[in-house]
Amino acid sequence: MIPAIPSEVVTHMRSAERVVALTGAGVSAESGIPTFRQAQTGLWAQYDPIELATPQAFLRTPRLVWDWYTYRRQIIAAAEPNPAHYALVDLEQHYPTFTLVTQNIDGLHWRAGSRDMLELHGNIERTRCFECGTYAQGWDEEGELPPRCGHCGGLLRPDVVWFGEGLPERELHLAYTVTQQVQIFLSIGTSAVVQPAASLPLIAKRAGAYVIEINPEETSLSVVADCWLQGQAGVILPELVRQVFNLSENQEE
Ligand code: APR
Repeated sequence: MIPAIPSEVVTHMRSAERVVALTGAGVSAESGIPTFRQAQTGLWAQYDPIELATPQAFLRTPRLVWDWYTYRRQIIAAAEPNPAHYALVDLEQHYPTFTLVTQNIDGLHWRAGSRDMLELHGNIERTRCFECGTYAQGWDEEGELPPRCGHCGGLLRPDVVWFGEGLPERELHLAYTVTQQVQIFLSIGTSAVVQPAASLPLIAKRAGAYVIEINPEETSLSVVADCWLQGQAGVILPELVRQVFNLSENQEE
């Protein structure tokens, strides 16, 4: 069923020049990527993800944490971007200024073609040294695990933000800056509870932006947003693109 998109939303999106989209795990759900907690199946069901995604856990049981990320990396490698990812690429190409701020670490936005992107929680495909922070160009899964840093010999870790760690400063600073100047803010597939990303739509709203939420479930943002488009991102976003760009039903960008 084609979702109804209020004409007010289309009007706002047609007249805007500066747009920010914040995405969360819901955008990757239709690609079959389980959320953090849903990834706890089979062998991994016995572990609390919060016990696996902390610097303390890595210091205590580095091999266990490394293996958990290898497992998640394999799920991601087998997944493909979905229509929501591609619709966001269309929006980036359409607007003079479009920034995608994502909490997802799966790299699917990049694989779909998004380029003006801020990854707030890192990227599971990258690794860096736990000790000196040097990024690894590659590593050997057959040797000692976690692999060692070629620079200082420290253990390599995934370049993702763990519980208790700060977000990358540059990305966070840029996310705040673009949010304060935006005309349309889209919050898509995020429960809007994990800070500091959850504050971005509120900052945008205070700065005068029109805030649109896309989510099948109500969140704390739903009542604050100017419009809550209830439904799946992979259905709503392509339809939004079609209406905003005035394409016919069979036309693609
Ligand atoms: N389309 C849009 N939204 C969806 C869809 C879908 N197809 N399926 C689920 N959702 C919504 C859910 O209703 C929920 O509100 O996506 C949201 C996912 O919420 P979370 O699992 O809390 O994910 P997110 O908001 O990205 O979490 C932020 O918290 O778990 C940590 O570090 C992890 O980056 C993550 C952060």
